[in-house]
Amino acid sequence: MNVVFLSPAYPLEMQDYTRGLAEVGANVIGVGEGPVSMVPPKVRKYLSDYITVPKLFDEQAVCDAVLQYSKRHHIDRVESLWEPLTLTAASIREQLRIPGMSRATVLGFRDKSIMKDRIAKAGLRVPYAFRCKSSREIEAAAERIGFPIIVKPIAGAGSADTYRVDSSSQLQRVLKQVQHVEEVSTEEFIDGREFTYDTVCVDGRPIYENVAEYLPRPLIARSNEWISPIIITIKDLNKPHIKHGIKLGHGVLKALNMGTGFTHMEWYLTPKGEVVFGEIGCRPGGAHLVDQMNFTSDIDLFREWARAICWKDVHIQNPRLYNCAIVFKRAMGQGTIRKIGGLETFMQKYGRSVMVDNILRPGARRRNWKQTLVSDGFIILRHTNWITAKHLAEKAATDIQLFATP
Ligand SMILES: Nc1ncnc2c1ncn2[C@@H]1O[C@H](COP(=O)(O)OP(=O)(O)O)[C@@H](O)[C@H]1O
Ligand SMILES: [Mg+2]
Repeated sequence: MNVVFLSPAYPLEMQDYTRGLAEVGANVIGVGEGPVSMVPPKVRKYLSDYITVPKLFDEQAVCDAVLQYSKRHHIDRVESLWEPLTLTAASIREQLRIPGMSRATVLGFRDKSIMKDRIAKAGLRVPYAFRCKSSREIEAAAERIGFPIIVKPIAGAGSADTYRVDSSSQLQRVLKQVQHVEEVSTEEFIDGREFTYDTVCVDGRPIYENVAEYLPRPLIARSNEWISPIIITIKDLNKPHIKHGIKLGHGVLKALNMGTGFTHMEWYLTPKGEVVFGEIGCRPGGAHLVDQMNFTSDIDLFREWARAICWKDVHIQNPRLYNCAIVFKRAMGQGTIRKIGGLETFMQKYGRSVMVDNILRPGARRRNWKQTLVSDGFIILRHTNWITAKHLAEKAATDIQLFATP
């Protein structure tokens, strides 16, 4: 089983997938920029071969390099879990007639407008929305939808340039703020709670499933620096409202013709109990969500994804044992972190529930909290009881405080 894996060492979590592929018996052929000697030894040991490309984001050049390689070597799979390279992987598969999702299918997971069209056509609930290229079009859309609305980039990520707008006067301000965005989606604002639906699929069938809740909603977390955002996986997927979300997820996977691999979907639950589609990618969730899923069931999804890709199989018998929370911290003040308060007490009291303490220590420079959800570090904790897990996460959010000065 010869698997070409694009960018085996970056972003960091790709190193775990490289390991996973090797562990299920694949020969991993990495594709990256620079010589193989640049790949960290702990990843290099899992690679059987390596293709150097001048630029990973030059789709044609990467395709050409792998095509060239294929003239001398047999290739069974071409994969990428880094969102910007998922289309490149699909193009190579198509050109080499290698099994896996086609470019047209992957496009349904990459282009938010095509995505929503396909999902709406399947009769599933998506926010009422318009594609807009000018202020005039946004104003016209707002008129038809009625406030509150959301204005966000069609090709957005991480809630960047995303605004909730409640009135015409606010819209005038937001029009200026999104002027640099080429194309936006103007949407009905969906009130309520926000969840993920994550899977590992084999031929479109979700063999592994997960749901997590965002506390608070990502847009609020990204708009307020003082908030310590929390994400908690939900141990019990049998609660009625969660089941509705999962059912929506099944419909979405079908509508988008999902093949084999990871998916990460976001969905909303309104106060009336309606479930509404948010967005989906054919890749795992970022910001350590896969670690949380692993801690939820004591499993290794890095390896099980690889097993699904290579052998259309997944070895997960474990039930869901825990609700697993991640709490992202943001220091008060700018510059260098000087002091942490409350961490020692928190660890003394609740250390047994803490799986990972990755909070930046005094002396470290603050990270840009708008650019990385991980911000100034995080704690991962878990508990068998949902209310306790949520309570502990909220305590970590409020009681642990980082202080920075220039
Ligand atoms: N139609 C909507 N109604 C309510 N909130 C929305 C809507 N669209 C986006 N949001 C908020 O903005 C966040 C980012 O939007 P999303 O579509 O997930 O794009 P991305 O995460 O790729 O930036 C969402 O998590 C949600 O909090
Ligand atoms: Mg999102």
